[in-house]
Amino acid sequence: MALIIDGKKISQQIKDELKEKVAELKANGKTGALAVIQVGTDPASSVYVRNKKNACAYIGIGSLAYELPEETKEEELLQLIAELNTKEEVKGILVQLPLPKHICEDKIIQSISPKKDVDGFHPQSVGAMTIGQKGFVSCTPAGIIQLLKRSRIEITGKNCVVIGRSNIVGKPMALLMLRENATVTITHSKTKNLPEICKQADILIVAIGKPQFIGSAYVKEGAVVIDVGIHRDENNKLCGDVKFDEVEPIASAITPVPGGVGPMTIAMLMNNCVQSIEDK
Ligand code: GUN
Repeated sequence: MALIIDGKKISQQIKDELKEKVAELKANGKTGALAVIQVGTDPASSVYVRNKKNACAYIGIGSLAYELPEETKEEELLQLIAELNTKEEVKGILVQLPLPKHICEDKIIQSISPKKDVDGFHPQSVGAMTIGQKGFVSCTPAGIIQLLKRSRIEITGKNCVVIGRSNIVGKPMALLMLRENATVTITHSKTKNLPEICKQADILIVAIGKPQFIGSAYVKEGAVVIDVGIHRDENNKLCGDVKFDEVEPIASAITPVPGGVGPMTIAMLMNNCVQSIEDK
């Protein structure tokens, strides 16, 4: 029987710790707000944005919501970010992705001051993380490190296989596991012999983006399996990239979907916001 890693409980612990810290900072005159920008009305984005605002309220920091119409020009968005970059009260800026096609995401991400880049997407943040310098770390990978540490799963010296090489999850995940002294392999859609490589993993991190793709043929007996995917199956039920029922009996620990990695992303976003308030 595998340990089911409870991301809901761990994220709640983190938010409660942050709530205490925010109260302490407030007592020392340090406050701030997160600015959240959404362009358009994508329903999934609207849910994420609402959850982010609720999390800010829970830990006791401010939030400023900017809901811009789909046809907003790139120039207008750049102008808003330039204003927020200089606004004293704003300690974090988050532009919800994806953006409408007529807006260049790279250009927008680069326009956010690295001091307020609480998503950790700015090239300067990514570079700092790569060489172990101070800066904001992308929230989902940082959340996975917390899940492992708070579940007392040893990382040092372990074989870690990451499936997926996105800028938001796969690449930063691999770098963070390396920072924690794992031996890391990154795999992707062009990798040959994927099952054999995955079977070497003591810790298998799956961010492949395909519903229920990873079954028992990919998992070593006793491995720790982290599932970053979130999809709806044919019955409209939430599921991950991993066939949970098939893999759980051979794993030593596994994250469920929902309630595994998902809740950690917002907890780590709040952590970055609090770090930003503290650093000012
Ligand atoms: N869209 C999906 N995930 C994220 C995220 O972590 N940050 C932002 N800004 N947009 C997203």
